[in-house]
Amino acid sequence: MPYISKVLGCGSYLPKRIVTNDEIAARIDTSDEWILARTGIKQRHVVENGELTSDLAFEAAKNALSSADVAVDELDLIVIGTTTPDNTFPSTAVKLQSKLGMRGGAAFDVQAVCSGFVFALSIVDSMIKSGQTKTALVVGADSMTRILDWEDRSTCILFGDGAGAFVVTADEIDPDATLERGILSTHIHSDGDLQELLYVDGGVSSTRTTGYLRMQGKEVFRHAVTNLTAVVREALAANNLEATDIDWFVPHQANKRIIDSTAKKLGLLPEKVILTIADHGNTSAASIPLALDAAIQDGRIKKGDLILMEAMGGGLTWGAALVRW
Ligand code: ACO
Repeated sequence: MPYISKVLGCGSYLPKRIVTNDEIAARIDTSDEWILARTGIKQRHVVENGELTSDLAFEAAKNALSSADVAVDELDLIVIGTTTPDNTFPSTAVKLQSKLGMRGGAAFDVQAVCSGFVFALSIVDSMIKSGQTKTALVVGADSMTRILDWEDRSTCILFGDGAGAFVVTADEIDPDATLERGILSTHIHSDGDLQELLYVDGGVSSTRTTGYLRMQGKEVFRHAVTNLTAVVREALAANNLEATDIDWFVPHQANKRIIDSTAKKLGLLPEKVILTIADHGNTSAASIPLALDAAIQDGRIKKGDLILMEAMGGGLTWGAALVRW
């Protein structure tokens, strides 16, 4: 029996501590005006010492399970997109498995930086379609502020921390349905030759230190608009859809100017674009489910809406997912 991956619920979580642009400007040579004009960011949520990525994932997971009305013992898989695990090993996903009290099944992390959630969703979708899993928790969780060089004004202003999650289940495809709800397609890409544009200058096998995020901002910006436009067109073409068919565009929240340029190139109306960048900053793998959850909570996204998600991150990696909610 062929299956479609149906999204049953979404949840998210942000750490309580908020850091405004003015607070950063009190420490380094920058200003609220510069940050807002160049990025669209006003503030970001930041983890406290001792608050771990798995803690953020745990809160988001509980919210997603509650919105889906699914019990932990119905889960047989957890996949977390994260670049900032609690430890080098075990994975943050097995830590979440334990915190949730999930017995059996499997749990693992996916590392695709800001594209981590789209990559995780793509893997889970394939595992559901191949009959390997029935009900999965797909999480994007990152504490990017832990790998920032707070002296580097071109990067430290951009990021925040948070987590978001979907509960996804196998649903039998109804051959008579006019509008099938679920994940219509996912599309993932990477180009390792572009790794120098965005990377962390430490790691277990290179320096035995965690390192700090380094970035060539202008180049990343240029590749983001090009790659994101291309992967969105790929997703639309794969489903015989036009940009005008999309109800809600839920992009990775990296920079408002990247989102605006991509939406303009694609011919998407500004009122169809979900934006949380001003309040969240760039939360890496968490940004898509965080933005989506915000739009569900305020009533914009409804059952049956066609949602297009896209992301690009270090690697470079990029991808898109089309979902009928
Ligand atoms: N405050 C004040 N001035 C600053 C700051 C700051 N925080 N940061 C840089 N500047 C200065 C620079 O020093 C430079 O000064 P100079 O002209 O005297 O040398 C000037 O501003 C212009 O710097 P640029 O780097 O050219 O500024 P740009 O317009 O490219 O904006 C930014 C920088 C915001 C980082 C932009 O390149 C960007 O957003 N790139 C995308 C990066 C991104 O989103 N990465 C996230 C991860 S990847 C992803 O998620 C898609």
